[in-house]
Amino acid sequence: MLLAGEPGGASASRPVGILGSVIEAKKILVGVTGGIAAYKAPGVIRRLREAGYEVKVAATEAAFRFVPEETLSIAAGDRIHTDASWWEESGRVEHVGLARWADLVLVAPATADAIARAAIGLGDDLLSATILAGARRVLWAPAMNPEMWTSPATRRNVETLRGWGHRFVGPEEGQMASSEEEPGVGRLAEEAEIVVAVEKALSA
Ligand SMILES: Cc1cc2nc3c(=O)[nH]c(=O)nc-3n(C[C@H](O)[C@H](O)[C@H](O)COP(=O)(O)O)c2cc1C
Repeated sequence: MLLAGEPGGASASRPVGILGSVIEAKKILVGVTGGIAAYKAPGVIRRLREAGYEVKVAATEAAFRFVPEETLSIAAGDRIHTDASWWEESGRVEHVGLARWADLVLVAPATADAIARAAIGLGDDLLSATILAGARRVLWAPAMNPEMWTSPATRRNVETLRGWGHRFVGPEEGQMASSEEEPGVGRLAEEAEIVVAVEKALSA
């Protein structure tokens, strides 16, 4: 079990076990998808690093409509894995490498679209392909308007993923980002709640 490490990121933090020995940090791949709440992803990434996790980030093309790649990269302390980097001639198959590397894939925020792609087994972007390529544990933190969340398609997709052992944290009830939208269930879970869900998923 991983205990909270020192603040300051993966390289600075050294999680310590109950007997005082340094234990290997758990590896989290944070998938960032293209919803309004993507601007909150850097906060989630920082929290995870402060808790002692080793973090890599894979973002969809749509995510960059809402949060700059540079901002994610600074939060991660590393380059971001993207659909562009997926196709670089690096001699590596990035989705397979990431699936093997990660103890957990956390998708935060998760769009209805990304959930649907996973539920029907698409692998047409780096994040979906990584999940498909044998990701060991997957935790979704959905964020979308209440109608999208309660739509029959999303309900069915969530049930499918739960049936495969995927976990969900949130969404929570509250105000939506846009004033055009009625309040309801669809807000991204709070950072602290996401970190607790990560710990639970890793220890299950
Ligand atoms: C302004 C705007 C806001 C959006 N917000 C959300 C959102 O909060 N949640 C969601 O599921 N989709 C949202 N969408 C739709 C996604 O951006 C769209 O489904 C996209 O294909 C998601 O791509 P991705 O899942 O590959 O990141 C939004 C679209 C726009 C134009």
